[in-house]
Amino acid sequence: MARLTPMMEQYMATKAQVPDALLFFRLGDFYELFNEDAVTAARELEITLTGRANGGVGGDERTPMCGVPHHSAEGYILRLVEKGYKVAICEQTEEAGAAKGIVRREIVRVVTPGTVMEQKGLQAKANNYLASVVEREGSFGLSFCDLSTGELLVVEHDSEQKMLDEMLRHQPAEIIVPFGEKTTPHAITLRDLLACVLTEGLEKTHNLARASEVLLSHYGVMTVDSFGLANRPQALCAAGMLLAYLDVTQKRNLNHLKMPAYITSDEYMTIDSFSRRNLELVETLRDKGKHGSLLGLLDETVTAMGGRLLRRYVERPLANRERIEQRLDAVEELYKNLLLRDDIRQLLDAVYDLERLVARVSYGSANARDLQAIGSSLAVLPSLKGRLESAGAPLLKELGQRIDNFDEIVDLIERAIVEEPPISVREGNVIRDGFDEYLDTLKTASRDGKRWLAELEQQEREATGIKSLKVGFNKVFGYYIEVSKANIQYVPETYERKQTLTNGERYVTPGLKEKEALILEAEEKMVDLEYQLFCQVRDAVSEILGKIQEAAESIAAVDVLQSFATVSIRRRYKRPVLNNDDRLYIEEGRHPVVEAMLKGEPFVANDTLLNTAENQIALITGPNMAGKSTYMRQVALIVLLAQMGCFVPADRAEIGIVDRVFTRIGASDDLAGGQSTFMVEMVELANILHHATPRSLIILDEIGRGTSTFDGISIAQAVVEFLHQSPKVGAKTLFATHYHELTTFTESFAGVKHYSTHVQEQGDSIVFLRKILPQAADRSYGIQVAKLAGLPEEVLARAREILVDLEQGGHGHETKPRIAEAANTPVSVAAPSKPAKPTAQLSLFDAAEHPVVDELRKLDVMRLTPLDAMNLLYQLHQKAREE
Ligand SMILES: Nc1ncnc2c1ncn2[C@@H]1O[C@H](COP(=O)(O)OP(=O)(O)OP(=O)(O)O)[C@@H](O)[C@H]1O
Ligand SMILES: [Mg+2]
Repeated sequence: MARLTPMMEQYMATKAQVPDALLFFRLGDFYELFNEDAVTAARELEITLTGRANGGVGGDERTPMCGVPHHSAEGYILRLVEKGYKVAICEQTEEAGAAKGIVRREIVRVVTPGTVMEQKGLQAKANNYLASVVEREGSFGLSFCDLSTGELLVVEHDSEQKMLDEMLRHQPAEIIVPFGEKTTPHAITLRDLLACVLTEGLEKTHNLARASEVLLSHYGVMTVDSFGLANRPQALCAAGMLLAYLDVTQKRNLNHLKMPAYITSDEYMTIDSFSRRNLELVETLRDKGKHGSLLGLLDETVTAMGGRLLRRYVERPLANRERIEQRLDAVEELYKNLLLRDDIRQLLDAVYDLERLVARVSYGSANARDLQAIGSSLAVLPSLKGRLESAGAPLLKELGQRIDNFDEIVDLIERAIVEEPPISVREGNVIRDGFDEYLDTLKTASRDGKRWLAELEQQEREATGIKSLKVGFNKVFGYYIEVSKANIQYVPETYERKQTLTNGERYVTPGLKEKEALILEAEEKMVDLEYQLFCQVRDAVSEILGKIQEAAESIAAVDVLQSFATVSIRRRYKRPVLNNDDRLYIEEGRHPVVEAMLKGEPFVANDTLLNTAENQIALITGPNMAGKSTYMRQVALIVLLAQMGCFVPADRAEIGIVDRVFTRIGASDDLAGGQSTFMVEMVELANILHHATPRSLIILDEIGRGTSTFDGISIAQAVVEFLHQSPKVGAKTLFATHYHELTTFTESFAGVKHYSTHVQEQGDSIVFLRKILPQAADRSYGIQVAKLAGLPEEVLARAREILVDLEQGGHGHETKPRIAEAANTPVSVAAPSKPAKPTAQLSLFDAAEHPVVDELRKLDVMRLTPLDAMNLLYQLHQKAREE
């Protein structure tokens, strides 16, 4: 086999360090990729794949290669990372001239989806999390780190479901699992569910001893007690493994990482991932966009930091009354005091993304423009602080107090950095005149030299009489005097010829050479010195990192509060009243998002009353399209908004603090997750029935719709009974259904109230009035709605025919529903899937010795029509209750 060139040998050795990353190998002004990496990159980036004959593997084979210019590499790298690749960047780490033999090259950083620092690769108003997870005997430790803001969070959970929920809430771009555990069932579930990159941690870094060591040395503390994580071994392991990974991929100081903060849950309301999705809190179900979600509606934040925090508030409303009231007090003040709100919004408008800017400073990637942005942002803070401290609401005052004084650093940056600095910090023109004496001397020398040159042109023109004589500069020959061909005969003896052009000659003179040396030396020194001075300023910022981060947190919180106030005013929201009892009372409530989306027609407001006694379950029936789902979501969203600390779309809202919101809304297929509609529905339902408490709010929309009618009704009925009877549950519930039979079945239930959405019939059509009335509906008007949707007239006519037929029970064999043919005994209808609570589930049919059992036995189920079956079931039920 042919030998590799020394360069390719170096490449191969470097590549062996990062087998799972694409290696960007610096060669002069390009980053080159070879072999498999080149094939992948050329395909993904749509750049030309070339070959290097004999350069690599040797023989006749050509080594595939492709490359990108180093100055435009960032865009290419980010595109690859966005597609889920990791990119290792290998630089020349010594000057080409200094090297004996081949120049030294080293990997300086590995960019992965979870460790992007570049502004272009990040969304301003969203965090970019790198997560890690370890599991031990059913206990999960998780950590989340946003490298671009310096945040580090940890938490432990005792079930896979909670672990997955936590992951779904943070939507990490990359998850680290322990070494060798990439194919465990947990890992596979994570990969499929989150569709993110899964990375293995370094060997052994997830064991407690090693993980603690990593954490202690990173934060320079003596014991893990400093993190308050002494009893959280799994959380420690997760955080240690994550830090160790950051260490090898980033290869630099990560001082901007804050201490690990434990995610507490008792302060917050629990919203599982299904409900977060169903209620469209941060993105819509349909196109996964922010527009049309609750977050989209609420986002009147001015800063990126506020935008990121708002997302968190929306996903984690509070459950602690004091804290909610604190926020509401602040929002109320901003709501009422227009001047204060406007001032604050204006001041915030001048604040850049301090959190990410200082992270870049500490990371070493900030340029002069970043420092300038930090300076001008910090310059606004005294006014902001003053405004906040003068406010009446304690929370606003406190946020003001948390902003420190930054006069010194603001002054330093202002004095140091020129008005419009270039992107590069290595090519000069960064530092202002008057900032450094020596730099000024150099600048004068260079400026004088240049003036001398400018004057030289004039002088020489006069001396030689050559009008077109020019003084110029190029990188190879330095300064020169250029004379066109026609004038060569006038050139004096003192000129020394340097270069011949097609239509002229270039010369130098001893005087010119001397000045040139002076100018070039001064310029070289200037550039070096400017870089040094820039670094000094950057380090000065780095030293007060913690103070800036704290101010940034304060700014984010103020921004969210003003955003709540701004939206509340625009949408005419009212302050909710919170208490610790079990009542939920809403007067004239509206759906915040539907209301905002409706164009022209007004949104019809509705009332709600729920408690754990006689108004525990609201059973809502009514035609399609009449507004059942909207109404139920609106109740949940009003509760969530109130507990976030925002005003609510209602004339009056009294809210007994809710611990969890559960929803089961619509039929959302999870084909990618390999589950059918019905299965998804049942999984979500099981989750609700297992976890609801008397303080919970449950929204059930057409439970059982995904299966045959009888199965569906049976499940729906059993669920209502379970929620109603189980003392452990007793949760406030809104339940919409098309199974009108349920209203009859539940007539005698003390805690069930019947409601319906009101419509008016107008001949063949209907008009939706959108009003919720306290009575059950009797019809579905499905065909009328189908007509509104534009179904062909033949289909509608036939549907009407069949409906009449069904209602009279006079149809033939072919229209039998599946269930009637499949089931052999009615009892199987009552046990459709694993019962949540057998006693509640069986209460309809639980009568082994009862006379109706005999009647049941005699039935010919195969010959029953659905309607007959329903009627019969009703009669049997009545009989059973009479006995
Ligand atoms: N209170 C309201 N005021 C004005 N428009 C409303 C109101 N409620 C609902 N709507 C409008 O009616 C549409 C249908 O409402 P929704 O989906 O809640 O009906 P539904 O009763 O759940 O129907 P289905 O039984 O088919 O699920 C909504 O998209 C919205 O545009
Ligand atoms: Mg609906």
